[in-house]
Amino acid sequence: MSQSTFDDGTLRLQTHPYIITVASEKGGVGKTTLATNLAIYLKAMREDLPVTIISFDNHFTIDLMFKINEPKVGGTVRDLLMGRPMNELFQLGQYGVGYIPSSTGLENIQYLFGAPMALARLLAGSGVAGIVIIDTRPELNVFTLNALYAADQVLVPVKDLPSLENCKNIFALFDRYGIEKKSLTLLPCLIDGRIRFEGAHRDQKSLLQSLAADRGYHCLDLSISKSPKVESLGTNPDGKIYPILTHARGTEVFKQYALLTRHILREFDATREPRCQYNSTFDRQRYLREKDAYLARLESLAERCPICGVALAEGPERRRFYYETSDGVTRGFLHNDCFVEMLCGTLYGPYDHSQGVRIARPLIIENACRSVSLFMPGLLGDVDILDFRQFDPACRLIFRREVPLAGFAGEEQNKSRQRLHLLLNQAQVGFAGRLRAGSWLAVHPVDPANPEKVLREDNYQAVRRLQTRIVDSREDAYPSLPTCLN
Ligand SMILES: Nc1ncnc2c1ncn2[C@@H]1O[C@H](COP(=O)(O)OP(=O)(O)O)[C@@H](O)[C@H]1O
Ligand SMILES: [Mg+2]
Ligand SMILES: [Zn+2]
Repeated sequence: MSQSTFDDGTLRLQTHPYIITVASEKGGVGKTTLATNLAIYLKAMREDLPVTIISFDNHFTIDLMFKINEPKVGGTVRDLLMGRPMNELFQLGQYGVGYIPSSTGLENIQYLFGAPMALARLLAGSGVAGIVIIDTRPELNVFTLNALYAADQVLVPVKDLPSLENCKNIFALFDRYGIEKKSLTLLPCLIDGRIRFEGAHRDQKSLLQSLAADRGYHCLDLSISKSPKVESLGTNPDGKIYPILTHARGTEVFKQYALLTRHILREFDATREPRCQYNSTFDRQRYLREKDAYLARLESLAERCPICGVALAEGPERRRFYYETSDGVTRGFLHNDCFVEMLCGTLYGPYDHSQGVRIARPLIIENACRSVSLFMPGLLGDVDILDFRQFDPACRLIFRREVPLAGFAGEEQNKSRQRLHLLLNQAQVGFAGRLRAGSWLAVHPVDPANPEKVLREDNYQAVRRLQTRIVDSREDAYPSLPTCLN
């Protein structure tokens, strides 16, 4: 955790890293040079600020530049991406810059990263503060996407028109994933100061800046010149790569890096909550919201099986179906046998006590256990009718029957009709014995070992989606008018 104060004197307690991603689909634009030297400059200009660098590319420039000794603990960027905490992989390197050893084995874990926010989550819980710089591969693969998503600042080096044109893919990614583009900035790099133009744009830098502005890209009013001295820093008998800060003093690039670093630090200082912290607060808030919603659903469960009236707590293992009304007001579980008897008798029947029911029963049970049953009261002419349908998980209609609801109050009803009556009545009835207008009742099979699982956010949303799809796709429905049951 690093501590300092904001301009207004409030204490800065940084628990989450501030992330700078250097990205471009073009190779050779100066990404790695920028990422590594920026790390060194940041550390030199602010000694107490932890600075860590990682690379998603498959070369070892970072290791070459920063490694002091062979890392004691094993582990590379690959382990980081596989979920190992960053502080376990952190190596303190040259110039006080921390790094995580690079890896050539990222390609075969790409498939694990479907979502762009995985890295942001890993870094949020990494236990590493300060600034983390990410050098990316010259390709918009899933790791680059994750690094872009996690970043507080994205620097895109552009050196010429093709590399500038290429930015449109990064911008498109930001659009596609709804990432805030404020932090996305272009930086003219490898600018040849000897090239001069006639007319409005005197040099490469101002030309690139104006071309960027034409395309609506934010381009820094800074640039990095092309310097033979800088280019030679990686070519020496020691096989090392030397930093600009120590080995290119007196060049223009040396000063340009200082200006760039100051700019980065200003942005850093002005950020009260790094993106990955914001995201994790957001994740946490969502988690709490979802938990509350789950508990509320759990609490609103009916205590009794509406068909037999027996308290569900008395035989919890008999719960096999979950019902819910379309308005989500009434919900609860049904006993396996209660629901099955009702289906056999009323809807597939009338088989009560007949030979037919024995034959049909297994099929009825099988159907009920793999489908959503929908009870939709409506009007056919002036007759109250129950439109009963069963849908498979792909929303295909597998069974349909219309049952007149008239005569429900009569004494001559058989047992299973009573069961249906009770279910509809308990579950759907509104004020004064009338069915709620336009409402329907859905019954879903649940896991008898853990029926409440259906109420967990993901499962519950799936249930609601399925219901909505079914209801939306249903044709020739009867007008659902308030229907009198009693
Ligand atoms: N300011 C500079 N002046 C001259 N050469 C540079 C400069 N910055 C980077 N280079 C050289 O350009 C080449 C590509 O740089 P690199 O940082 O590896 O780009 P990338 O990571 O985008 O592929 C390297 O040989 C590097 O030494
Ligand atoms: Mg590179
Ligand atoms: Zn029951």
